[in-house]
Amino acid sequence: MSLVISRACVAVLAVLLFSSACQAQLSSTFYDRTCPNALSTIRSAVRTAIARERRMAASLIRLHFHDCFVQGCDASILLVDAPSITSEQNALQNKGSARGYEVIDKAKSDVEKICPGVVSCADILAVAARDASEYVGGPSWTAKLGRRDSTTASISLASSQLPRFTASLGSLIELFGSKGLSARDMVALSGSHTIGQAQCVTFRDRIYSNASDIHAGFASTRRRRCPANFGNGDGNLAAMDLVTPNSFDNNYFKNLMQKKGLLASDQVLFSGGSTDGMVSEYSRNPSVFKSDFAAAMVKMGDIEPLTGSAGIIRKVCSLVN
Ligand code: HEM
Repeated sequence: MSLVISRACVAVLAVLLFSSACQAQLSSTFYDRTCPNALSTIRSAVRTAIARERRMAASLIRLHFHDCFVQGCDASILLVDAPSITSEQNALQNKGSARGYEVIDKAKSDVEKICPGVVSCADILAVAARDASEYVGGPSWTAKLGRRDSTTASISLASSQLPRFTASLGSLIELFGSKGLSARDMVALSGSHTIGQAQCVTFRDRIYSNASDIHAGFASTRRRRCPANFGNGDGNLAAMDLVTPNSFDNNYFKNLMQKKGLLASDQVLFSGGSTDGMVSEYSRNPSVFKSDFAAAMVKMGDIEPLTGSAGIIRKVCSLVN
């Protein structure tokens, strides 16, 4: 009898140990029991927002990226200025540029209504990025969940860890490498510049440079809505992929091969360097691009998450509880 009990105890202990070890890992079934309708609720908020404004798909994908590259995927980007917080939203790479915060807030408040205090803002960002890609014809993937939210933000890390459009290929490879992402992941992820828009200030120097790495006709078309002088039309928007701006396809890579990358940091991916072969492969093979993109998004979503008892579940994404 006592042997049976002690065996049972060992079994219970093993299950407990195993489950606590698993807590540190993200899992696609994380909310299956605690909030079974979380994903469908997020999805409908995301779909409503993109149906209203198609660009929002791009903005939501970028928001998840800008979250994950700063302190890991912990929703730190969503925190607004407060006595103990200097918001990452004011970093150069985000200010007047990162968008979609209100869509995440809406998804969060919808989810709070059905399961208060259960679903993290960091997971909502990850799911929203996935749903956004899917909605505009991009790949879908199984989102891994179980991230928790930070109680801190870092504007200084945002300034140093988010890539700049002036970055060289070498420094981009190094930056992504420091996050555990390969050059191939970086090229695939940059393929999301097949949708969305950029402001004149981010590509002005390139289109007025008369450099040999830009298609002359492309530059002159782009100059029409982006005046030469700094301070003039800085915020004018241009589609990052002129040809098919609203669909998530591999046209971005075809553009690069014709020297029609909008940002300098786009064109460096096809400029006689080590990533040329990847660009050309993705331009020829959309299905390889899409599956590599999906895999790289999952990998990106795994950057230093807070799990288990680390961090918190924020009640409102923009504030620490
Ligand atoms: C490789 C380094 C990268 C650089 C230097 C870069 C830079 C930029 C810049 C300057 C813009 C335009 C912002 C504006 O004018 O307001 C932009 C837009 C965008 N970026 Fe990137 N990016 C990079 C990688 C990525 C990655 C890895 C992703 C996604 C995983 C991504 C997704 C997007 C999207 C979707 C947009 C359009 C956003 C919108 O329309 O709201 N970018 N990026």
